[in-house]
Amino acid sequence: MSDKATLEINGEKYEFPILVGSEKEVAIDIKSLRSATGGVITLDPGYKNTGSCESAITFLDGENGVLRYRGYSIEELAEKADFLEVAYLLIFGELPTKEQLDKFDKDIKSHSVVDDDIKKILDAFPKSAHPMGVLSSLTSALTAFYPTSVDVTSEEQMYNSIVRILAKFPVLVAWTLRKKHGLPLDYGDNKLSYVENILKMMFKSPSSDYEQNPILVNALDKLLILHADHEQNCSTSTVRIAGSSHAGLFVSLASGISALWGPLHGGANQAVLEMLEAIKADGGDTKKYMAKAKDKNDPFRLMGFGHRVYKNFDPRAKIIKAAADEVLNDLGIDDPILDIAKGLAKEALEDPYFIDRKLYPNVDFYSGIIYRAMGIPVEMFTVMFALGRLPGWIAQWREMRLRNEPIGRPRQLYIGETLREFKTIEKR
Ligand code: SDX
Repeated sequence: MSDKATLEINGEKYEFPILVGSEKEVAIDIKSLRSATGGVITLDPGYKNTGSCESAITFLDGENGVLRYRGYSIEELAEKADFLEVAYLLIFGELPTKEQLDKFDKDIKSHSVVDDDIKKILDAFPKSAHPMGVLSSLTSALTAFYPTSVDVTSEEQMYNSIVRILAKFPVLVAWTLRKKHGLPLDYGDNKLSYVENILKMMFKSPSSDYEQNPILVNALDKLLILHADHEQNCSTSTVRIAGSSHAGLFVSLASGISALWGPLHGGANQAVLEMLEAIKADGGDTKKYMAKAKDKNDPFRLMGFGHRVYKNFDPRAKIIKAAADEVLNDLGIDDPILDIAKGLAKEALEDPYFIDRKLYPNVDFYSGIIYRAMGIPVEMFTVMFALGRLPGWIAQWREMRLRNEPIGRPRQLYIGETLREFKTIEKR
């Protein structure tokens, strides 16, 4: 492999270094392109061929359906680790020792109370507000209550910001759900594990104790691990570019929550359930929806299918599909929606339109079926995605800041009007 790439423009040749990553991926380093060529740039809408950074956090192999966090396979982590261990691994780079994990857990629990005045902001929202909009607002508002989390010039300040948001975010998630259901806003219990605490804060009835169900605890722990990071996806890139201006961690995360909300990204898990419900209401007529998905004149897409990187099965979808069977079986739930999902996936995977375009079920296709079985309302599905993605966003933001990456400011190719003179209104 040559260590240089050559570009020829108008008979002039320009050489650029070739970089090779630890998994043998190859990149052309074009940092000097504009200065070397007198202003030439590359153009790549959606950054389908453009790397924004070097990162040591998550590796994806889209052709072979591989996902690893800090070198550990998602299959092993989903089976053998718990969510807090994976959060530590993503953020600090190594699986924690027992002492490190205990300290991490203790430090997080020391910040598990949220300023009561946040409830006044929450109260201002109508019950009809989408939880993702509420969550993004409350996460941004945290900065006002914890201003020392903004300027993270020291590793210690950064660590304090990180454990603070890991502690308070689940409370905001639970409050967002409870507000919608007119329930009193509950606090966690520091005697519980991170995931048990989430379930208790979300679901505890004011008039009775909350009894943990290990099936739900295990299912949620696994789902959060599977959503924890995914290299430079849309919302993570948003968190990075917001943080690159040295905006604080909480507001950078709030921008990521907003990006995740879109139905082409994290909002897809809600859109999948709504699509499956529509098919069910339509008498299970999957063929009609397949035809709509393939019709270029119809904006409808098969939600939960396709992926920018995976051109093979999304490894997370495989694990979640198996978990969906297990959870529904353990809970004794016979959900026809799962059968519709499986039927639709089978049809799509045998259809030339999907085969030719390498469209497979992604992480969002089956996850909503488990959330629903757990009693989580559909408009909270993307919030659960954000809860899982939180440590990944934090890890990527921290890496970007520790590597002192430059402020993100892409260029453009201007295709508008060239210089023209102002016309007074009488002459227009
Ligand atoms: C996530 O990036 C990440 O890592 C994201 C994520 C993460 O963990 O952070 O994995 C989470 O966002 C998963 C994706 C969830 N979104 C959906 O399920 C929405 C449905 N999927 C699509 O909108 C689409 O597949 C995307 C957005 C996921 C990817 O779009 P791309 O890479 O821009 O691909 P494209 O739109 O250029 O599609 C290529 C072709 C097109 O057809 P042609 O113009 O070539 O004829 O495939 C078609 C598309 O029309 N196509 C689909 C389709 N997805 C792509 N056709 C029907 N249904 C679909 N779902």
